[in-house]
Amino acid sequence: MNYRRILILCFLMGGFAINAAAQDLVKGKQLYETRCLVCHQADGGGVPNMNAPLDGASNVVGTDIARLVRIIKKGYSERVALDGFYYGNAMTANPDLKDVDIANILSYIRTSWTNKASTITAAQVKAAGSKK
Ligand code: HEC
Repeated sequence: MNYRRILILCFLMGGFAINAAAQDLVKGKQLYETRCLVCHQADGGGVPNMNAPLDGASNVVGTDIARLVRIIKKGYSERVALDGFYYGNAMTANPDLKDVDIANILSYIRTSWTNKASTITAAQVKAAGSKK
């Protein structure tokens, strides 16, 4: 193989990698729009006193991935203070979502609006899910 071929090959492989990552966020956004937007809103701002914001939320960009996975799978209505505020609505469970779906949603909400945290892989979701 000559150098030019190797260069082209590297270019193609890089393109695929970028494509795969971009698609995860597109899928995450689609799932967010069908499952989460009604409460958390398009801008991630939530609804005061009712639905917690995801934009700028310390837990959403934090490192407790197991908690985030559990909330998406099982729903959430613990009514504890989140960044100093309380929310009265109850979040619905999503027991049908696969690990890869949850990874795409988490990647989307952790990198959207003003959030700039790491993306999450399906393997991380699987590991977090088995921790409980
Ligand atoms: C029926 C409305 C509703 C839907 C739909 C909903 N949520 Fe929620 N979500 C809430 C409410 C209300 C809370 C806060 C509950 C509490 O404080 O007890 C919450 C909390 C959260 C939290 C914790 C935030 C924090 O600061 O700790 C995350 C993460 C979250 N939701 C993500 C999602 C995702 C992702 C989806 C879509 C798969 C989703 N929610 C769908 C209402 C909803």
